[in-house]
Amino acid sequence: MVKKIKILVSFGTRPEGIKLAPVIKEIEKNKDYFILSICSTGQHREMLAQVIDFFEIKPDINLNLMTANQTLSEISSRIIQGMEDVFNQTSPDIVLVQGDTTTAFLTAFVAFYGKIRVGHVEAGLRTFNKHSPFPEEINRQLISKIADLHFAPTEKAKESLLNEGTDENGIILTGNTVVDAILWGIDKIDKKPEKDKSEDIKLLEKIVSPDKKTILVTMHRRESFGEEIKNVCEALKVTASKYKNINIIYPVHLNPNVSRPVHEILGGIKNIKLFEPLGYEPFLWLMNKSYFIITDSGGVQEEAPTLKKPVLVIRKFTERSESVEMGISKLLGTDKENIIKNMRLLLDNESEYKKMIAYANPYGDGKASRRICKAMKEYFKICAE
Ligand code: UD1
Ligand code: UDP
Repeated sequence: MVKKIKILVSFGTRPEGIKLAPVIKEIEKNKDYFILSICSTGQHREMLAQVIDFFEIKPDINLNLMTANQTLSEISSRIIQGMEDVFNQTSPDIVLVQGDTTTAFLTAFVAFYGKIRVGHVEAGLRTFNKHSPFPEEINRQLISKIADLHFAPTEKAKESLLNEGTDENGIILTGNTVVDAILWGIDKIDKKPEKDKSEDIKLLEKIVSPDKKTILVTMHRRESFGEEIKNVCEALKVTASKYKNINIIYPVHLNPNVSRPVHEILGGIKNIKLFEPLGYEPFLWLMNKSYFIITDSGGVQEEAPTLKKPVLVIRKFTERSESVEMGISKLLGTDKENIIKNMRLLLDNESEYKKMIAYANPYGDGKASRRICKAMKEYFKICAE
């Protein structure tokens, strides 16, 4: 009888929950090999609850650490203390972290102090600019220093890890688990009887109309707080007033540094609809109905190609350059006039629009979670030899 591997999966925010959900499901299918514990730091509260609900995940531990308008240091210190207790309680053979959040970095860091192995899902993304995204670029670089297994989503990510001197044997090219998540989500929605449709979708159906182009917007990055968020909002306002045949739908992130200026500038405009963050089900529905997407989200840049939606990226740097190179997303920065110009181009020029429709998703094929589980089995077999 082979000794089972004790895995702790740790997450704290909406995107980590979405991207680790399919990994959790795959681990659960492999009960003969793995013993799973799930820990939420609760770095996010409502926005993570929506994910846990949709993917039917049952955390064994919830540290419930979020406070309103938390600073990076405040949430960091709570995670360090909280995760030390979790490791003492669970003593896993390996902990899986995802991406580049405070939860991901500090879970890896505390695991390192406890000499616990770390597997990093979505390893090797880089902008090489320590201030953008802030603080995520440094978080993920530091996780790469600590991790034993690096699950790289793309060839480019693998290349970045190799260039930094990461041991090649520890790098596994998997694709991004977000593609597994979106395919799982679409399948769940397709199988749902009409009568169980979510209330949010019923509400959105009243707004989304075939004779108006829907533009979906999300924005939340820390490096854009202040002037840059205002610039983007001004660009949306100008475009909304010029084009009466569009609806801009914007589920606003709960961070008060985002929601305050967004509501101040865009509240009360007829063809701009501001929402609370949407659950994954209505958000997928809305992405699918949108004409194009304006976002600074990492996950949305990776999901949009599966739904064949052009993306305007309102950031100065992106680590998701694969879709930019394919021409299916555009890196615009946060300059007001440039955003207006590019929105107009997509709205007025059909051939420019068609050029941006994805012909493939460069970020994954829906099998990343399977590859991650396979790699863990092989790694522990090797370790045991
Ligand atoms: C975090 C991640 C970021 C990720 C983003 C996803 C870090 C440093 N940043 O940023 O990489 O892209 O999550 O959304 O880890 N809030 C709520 N309810 C929620 C969630 C947030 O009220 O469910 C509010 C709270 O006031 C909270 C604030 O948002 O203090 C900021 O949350 P935090 O997790 O610190 O940062 P994000 O900007 O969400
Ligand atoms: N998302 C969601 N509801 C929303 C906005 C986004 O479910 O109202 C999902 C989206 O589909 C993607 C993820 O949240 O999978 C991205 O999270 P976010 O933009 O907060 O973080 P990032 O990916 O930038 O780290």
